[in-house]
Amino acid sequence: MVVAPGAGRHEAPIGVFDSGIGGLTVARAVLHHLPDESIIYFGDTARVPYGPKSPVTVERYAREITEFLLAEGVKAIVVACNTATAHALPTLIAESPVPVIGVVEPGARAAVAAAPHGTVGVIGTAGTIASGAYDRAIHSLAPDVQVVTRACPLFVPLVEEGWTDHEATRIVAHEYLDEFAASGLDALVLGCTHYPLLTPLLGDVMGPGTQLIDSAEQTAIELAGRLEAAGLRARTGAPVSHRFVASDAPEQMLRLGPRFLGAPIERVERVVLG
Ligand code: DGL
Repeated sequence: MVVAPGAGRHEAPIGVFDSGIGGLTVARAVLHHLPDESIIYFGDTARVPYGPKSPVTVERYAREITEFLLAEGVKAIVVACNTATAHALPTLIAESPVPVIGVVEPGARAAVAAAPHGTVGVIGTAGTIASGAYDRAIHSLAPDVQVVTRACPLFVPLVEEGWTDHEATRIVAHEYLDEFAASGLDALVLGCTHYPLLTPLLGDVMGPGTQLIDSAEQTAIELAGRLEAAGLRARTGAPVSHRFVASDAPEQMLRLGPRFLGAPIERVERVVLG
């Protein structure tokens, strides 16, 4: 793998990547917690969704994106995609000369903090759930926590459609989650980039007794700690720049991205990989 020319430089950007635009929810948390840092966000919009794809394919895509980000000189990489984290994180960590942080472990940590002896539900794409990554991460922190999981593949297209508060989404959510709601979970991990946008709706379906866990926040906090520990934090007041890159036509990220990022996106570059 390419050695990052920018590795070790405080002012180098942080690379954040996802299968598409959903990972902008993680970028949003990174910008909120680390306002002095620059980022390069890569959304693999030409090859999204990763959720139904095989582990070997997702790993190949994740390695290609990591190589691209390293060549751009990033000082750390955040794998914002739960599916890519579930299938590729150990490989990316082993191959990268900069810190690589995924979203599964931070989410697991937040879930265990919310329910140290209770029952935790995890929802995600088919690939994330089938990988067992969240179960393993939660049990390695708290072996007694009971973990129940469910793939909710229809949530991604519903969110992309903008139907975050739509009757159709509510019906789908009841179909997926009524059983969880009836069993009274202590916490529910939103194990997919798109699900935080459904927080109010999922909160209604699950009821007030279940804490919803958004791994984006926790990931940004862990990233801050890792940069601090490595002496890689940008200097306060240094100029920041945020680049947004898509592997397919930029229009979709320009149109839908601001809803995920919570801020305007003025320009999206197109970079084709693979
Ligand atoms: N980014 C993916 C995740 O967090 C969801 C979209 C996809 O299936 O690619 O798992």
